[in-house]
Amino acid sequence: MTRLIIDTDPGVDDAIAIAIAALSPSTDLLGVTTVFGNVPLAKTTRNALRILEMCGRDDVPVAAGAAMPLVHPQARQDSTAHGDDGLSGHADVLPEPSRDAVADGAVGLMASLLEQAEEPVTISPIGPLTNIAVLLAAYPHLKPKIERLVIMGGALEGGNVTARAEFNVWSDPEAARRVLVTEDVPCVLVPMDLTYRCAVDTDWLELLATSGRVGEALRALTPEYVRHYTRALGWPGMVVHDAVAIVEAITPGTLVTESLPLDIECSFGPSRGAVIADRRRREQIDDTVALDEAGRVDVAMDTDIARLRAVLLEGIEEKMEA
Ligand code: RIB
Ligand code: CA
Repeated sequence: MTRLIIDTDPGVDDAIAIAIAALSPSTDLLGVTTVFGNVPLAKTTRNALRILEMCGRDDVPVAAGAAMPLVHPQARQDSTAHGDDGLSGHADVLPEPSRDAVADGAVGLMASLLEQAEEPVTISPIGPLTNIAVLLAAYPHLKPKIERLVIMGGALEGGNVTARAEFNVWSDPEAARRVLVTEDVPCVLVPMDLTYRCAVDTDWLELLATSGRVGEALRALTPEYVRHYTRALGWPGMVVHDAVAIVEAITPGTLVTESLPLDIECSFGPSRGAVIADRRRREQIDDTVALDEAGRVDVAMDTDIARLRAVLLEGIEEKMEA
């Protein structure tokens, strides 16, 4: 059983990721915390509540976190991909929440869940890393209660929101650098270099739509997102970035990782938010200027892509009553 907390900015791909975790029989979803990102915090929080309601999981506490980055303002949101409401303009297909977010706030909820946990907990951040940076700074004594962080973010080459940066890291590079470089909690980073390779096509979307009630609702959230990614991919489909990370969080070892020293570009040049990975051979690095070994992270580089696409559907499809 994977004890899991998701930190999220729903977001269409976040919605699919949250549903997979909420419906997973091998996952104890302890809580969902929200952060600004694709859309402002009020919308990401409302979307998280509605997604869990739709999954029949109003037992999972939701808490709102950071409304802005640690230091510098977020230059833009990703609403071009996710629509103004964060769910392709179709948030109304989801039920109204039957409860509010808890008063604790995201960092308070994560801290109390970690305090109460009898075994270490996996935290999967699938939005900007602001809440995680604050949690680790404010509650360092709780770090041993974190099994690992499974983070969707970064691009080793290229980018999406800019030519050289991926949206989650770019939205708060200082927070990303704190979590991925300065802190010492075990991390798996799932970069867009891999999530793009796991993109799904319209056949997959039709299988999603006919997989049951949840799949049908999730499919209804995708039109704007599919339009965005059809332009980005050059063929009709979408990239379910966050769901790739959540499958790894739930089933460790799904993704093939490589341990790499990282740094995050926090200057204000054209590469702000870039993830710098030192992939040179060990022998070459030793007598040159190397990245700080403290920033070594397990970076997801590969997977059985066909199998992963099937697992994504299996995680959502209605299980026939036994
Ligand atoms: O770059 C992809 C990431 O940014 C995903 O988490 C997506 O939801 C957006 O937040
Ligand atoms: Ca996200």
